[in-house]
Amino acid sequence: MTNPILIAPSILAADFAAFGAECRAVEAQGADWVHVDVMDGHFVPNLTFGPAMCAALRPHISGVMDVHLMIAPVDPYIDAFAQAGADVITAHAEAGPHLHRTLQAIRAAGVRPGVALNPATPAEAVAEVLDLVDLVCVMTVNPGFGGQSFIETCVPKVARLREMIGDRDVHIEIDGGVDPSTAPKVAAAGADVLVAGSAVFKHGSVEAPEGYGAAIREIRGAAEGARA
Ligand code: DX5
Ligand code: ZN
Repeated sequence: MTNPILIAPSILAADFAAFGAECRAVEAQGADWVHVDVMDGHFVPNLTFGPAMCAALRPHISGVMDVHLMIAPVDPYIDAFAQAGADVITAHAEAGPHLHRTLQAIRAAGVRPGVALNPATPAEAVAEVLDLVDLVCVMTVNPGFGGQSFIETCVPKVARLREMIGDRDVHIEIDGGVDPSTAPKVAAAGADVLVAGSAVFKHGSVEAPEGYGAAIREIRGAAEGARA
């Protein structure tokens, strides 16, 4: 099973005063999904935004709104993010003791569930929940900030997960330090959804969005080339 490579720009690297316009611009330039990084200042050492921001963004995103929850606890907020229009809600395996319940609750809310793994967490941590998820997100930086360096030692974990997933229809998403030089490594290992924050948004602006398109095409091309 080979899904197409999907590029999911992270608005964490966009202009915070222009999120609606940034979402429209990046989709017009070829983004497949829009990745929304929710941080609570507790699970990760940074704060971003919550369900109200996701609801405000929803009319500006015509495709998939991919909500990455870097929060603990998760369960009290699932319904709010579902009502805000999330298509995918990804919770961290490290965020609490009842991952199975969390993933069931996301599905019950009518949203596609994802599970994310920090760099220090082995692939085996999700072995028992692979039938419950549509996506496994492999963090290739420690979550909390954009613009960090890709952690190379996470690449073998991607290949291990692809083997564990087998013939299930489950995406492997990569989040952190994805650019045209790192994308081929994770695509060759079996990833199909590539989050890219700074590698997309540093190349343009709402007024000059063509650079976003060029960056998306370059990352996609590099990833596809590694699979061939
Ligand atoms: C990190 C976030 C990422 C981040 C990626 O905690 O989950 O989505 O925005 O940013 P870059 O692509 O700049 O590493
Ligand atoms: Zn993210």
